[in-house]
Amino acid sequence: MENQLQILQAEALQEMQQAQTVAALNELKVKYLGKKGSLTAVLRGMGALSPEERPRIGALVNEVRAKLEALLEERAGALKAAELQERLEKETIDITLAGRASFNGHVHPLMLTLDRIKAVFMRMGFAVAEGPEVEEDSYNFEALNLPPDHPARDMQDTFYITPELLLRTHTSPVQARVMQASEPNSPVRIIAPGKVYRCDYDATHSPMFHQVEGLVIDKEINFADLKGTLELFIREIFGANTGVRFRPSFFPFTEPSAEVDISCVICQGKGCRVCKQTGWLEILGSGMVHPRVLELSGYDPNKVQGFAFGMGVERIAMLLYRIDDLRLFYENDVRFLRQF
Ligand code: FA5
Ligand code: MG
Repeated sequence: MENQLQILQAEALQEMQQAQTVAALNELKVKYLGKKGSLTAVLRGMGALSPEERPRIGALVNEVRAKLEALLEERAGALKAAELQERLEKETIDITLAGRASFNGHVHPLMLTLDRIKAVFMRMGFAVAEGPEVEEDSYNFEALNLPPDHPARDMQDTFYITPELLLRTHTSPVQARVMQASEPNSPVRIIAPGKVYRCDYDATHSPMFHQVEGLVIDKEINFADLKGTLELFIREIFGANTGVRFRPSFFPFTEPSAEVDISCVICQGKGCRVCKQTGWLEILGSGMVHPRVLELSGYDPNKVQGFAFGMGVERIAMLLYRIDDLRLFYENDVRFLRQF
């Protein structure tokens, strides 16, 4: 039996040395060490041995098994390395091929614009306030001096959810929310950016768009504060040489009211298609907070005054990037978006 084991070991070692692939090695493992393998068969035959011989042969079988296993492992490692080496040598890399650029996502142009707007006001000491997009009629209209049958409600085409609930048509309801959450007559200096909704659709009107509201309240705030703040803002965003014009206007929640135009960024005021030959472009509405609006939110107009403004972010982005159709911002065509 000892002899038989020796022969088996010699044969196995030789075959393992000669195996050329990992697969062939695996076959040898089965052939010698598997359940039905030759070495296992020897073990099975040990029943026929005398009790004195059994431990010796048993130890021998274990020794052979250990040797075969060690060689198997060594050869498997070597063959795997050789196979990898061969594959790498066959693989050629053509370094003259043009690279395949990967496209990184980036901030959307509207959010870039909003970030710039916010940064300017934050440098001036404004805090950022927010309000809900699904808003109560009482905040969107009534608190802003627009009672239920006020004709100026038709200035904005509203999406109603119920008679009392709507999609806010502007960020102005945040004015009322901020004042009502503050100590009466305490100073306010906030901007309120966010989404607003109107039943509008054309090259300069989107059913969902963004506004940035501004509200400043304190003792002895006057129209010069409004004018100075907005002029500074416009020159920070559009450049020091931008022309600014305050044009009398009407909003139920401000008195007096003004819309603010800037000189056309496309034609520098000479007149073109974008400014409809006027040389000016409207970018925001503004005014001194109406005394009634202060009262409705618990402030005393004899003690404090305020100014407010509301601007369209899409309009400002159109002017900054010279885009003549705001719908491009929402079509998500990467050829467009990649340019920013
Ligand atoms: C208002 O919404 C007032 N709440 C602004 C205001 C605030 C006045 C505080 C006084 C005090 P208006 O409806 O004009 O005003 O809208 C303001 C700006 O939003 C417009 O100048 C325009 O830039 C933008 N805008 C209006 N409708 C749309 C629309 N459908 N799509 C994109 N931008 C729009
Ligand atoms: Mg307007």
